[in-house]
Amino acid sequence: MKFFIDTANLDQIREAQSLGVLDGVTTNPSLMAKEGITGEKNIIQHYFDICEIVDGDVSAEVISLDFNGMVKEGKILAALHPQIVVKIPMIEDGVKALKYFYDEGIKTNCTLIFSAGQALLAAKAGATYMSPFIGRLDDISTDGLSLIQEIRDIYDNYGFETQILAASVRHTMHIIECAKIGADVMTGPLSSIKGLLKHPLTDIGLAKFLEDYKKGN
Ligand code: E4P
Repeated sequence: MKFFIDTANLDQIREAQSLGVLDGVTTNPSLMAKEGITGEKNIIQHYFDICEIVDGDVSAEVISLDFNGMVKEGKILAALHPQIVVKIPMIEDGVKALKYFYDEGIKTNCTLIFSAGQALLAAKAGATYMSPFIGRLDDISTDGLSLIQEIRDIYDNYGFETQILAASVRHTMHIIECAKIGADVMTGPLSSIKGLLKHPLTDIGLAKFLEDYKKGN
């Protein structure tokens, strides 16, 4: 299972990278705005800075809603750095753009997936990754993890190679349940990744080991 961090915050990306378990980064326009990154030039520079920190794939989202605009933007983003994955929204022109980039050999991440039907379309169009937003489904009293299971079953039925990127992960249990289902990737905040570290028995056990070591010295 690949671990991506879902942020545009460079310090958090560096911290996750230093753990040695990071496989990539996802961003979106809201995450960019949260870091105060605005304007095309600054956004492009920020994507480049992220790519210089991590070794894996970095999703960079297009803003256009029409096919020609998505293709133009996506080409600029893809040319920026070999690690860039063009993030395309699940809309009609987005499906066309996914197919276009597939034919061009450019990696894509189809975003804003909320149903099995959308996941099926993204795979048919040749998306490299597709991102079901599990936290946002949970927010509206719909089981996000069930969607991950449904998509896993469908993709396995036909051997689709599109990777299931469980997005909108909010906490450690999302990660663990996604791993049990067999999501290929999860993207979440640093807190969800570092949360996996914690267990009170680890802390208690370690304190006792150190206490006993001191007794013997
Ligand atoms: C995915 O690529 C999105 O950036 C993200 O996971 C959305 O998460 P949120 O629902 O916490 O905003």
